[in-house]
Amino acid sequence: METEILSDNITLRTIYERRSVRKFKNIAIDHDTITRILDAGRMAPSAMNKQPWKFYILTEKDTIKAFSKEIAKVTARTFVKSHSGSDVIRTAIQLLHMLKEGDLFKRPDPIFHGAPVVVFIAAPRENEWAAIDVGMCAQNMMLAAKALGLDSCPIGLAKYVEQTKIFSRLQVPLAEQVHLAVIFGCGDEEPDVHKRTRNNAFFIE
Ligand SMILES: Cc1cc2nc3c(=O)[nH]c(=O)nc-3n(C[C@H](O)[C@H](O)[C@H](O)COP(=O)(O)O)c2cc1C
Repeated sequence: METEILSDNITLRTIYERRSVRKFKNIAIDHDTITRILDAGRMAPSAMNKQPWKFYILTEKDTIKAFSKEIAKVTARTFVKSHSGSDVIRTAIQLLHMLKEGDLFKRPDPIFHGAPVVVFIAAPRENEWAAIDVGMCAQNMMLAAKALGLDSCPIGLAKYVEQTKIFSRLQVPLAEQVHLAVIFGCGDEEPDVHKRTRNNAFFIE
């Protein structure tokens, strides 16, 4: 069935071929391409057509690395806090695993994986639908990137940017919350597809 879908329809092909990519070539993305990706995000549906998304965009390598390192520090702190307590041994094992797997502090860009473009997506805190709207917007952007020959990855950990000491550099107003970042670039890996669970649809009579 998948082969049929893929050969048939360019939209479905794009959906099926998108992967979260975490290795990028050292190639900058031009401004027009970034704008086309943002415009695709802006075409997402939003509750009551509020279009609540705001984009805070980094393209400067040293700035991206600086944010990456600060977010990694907050991530580690948050992880320790939320997992400490009674289960100390399990926490320690998990933390060691995370540090080893993610190489959280050794890599120059542990959070944004060397991508040339990072788009933080924020929205007004008082909007109860914002997280859903931002998710839809992000998915449109990732599919647009794929259609334009680029790769992407959603970065949920980017929400910890609010707790970093350099957050003010993003100039996000207090009334907005950062939900997510999406990274974009020319991918330098072709990850296998993660098998999808299919026993999660329930047709109700
Ligand atoms: C809300 C959300 C947050 C995510 N956060 C991260 C993240 O912080 N870092 C990362 O490398 N990948 C992150 N991912 C990517 C997922 O790991 C990835 O989508 C999942 O493994 C499925 O792989 P696929 O996107 O290639 O289909 C996130 C994905 C989503 C939807």
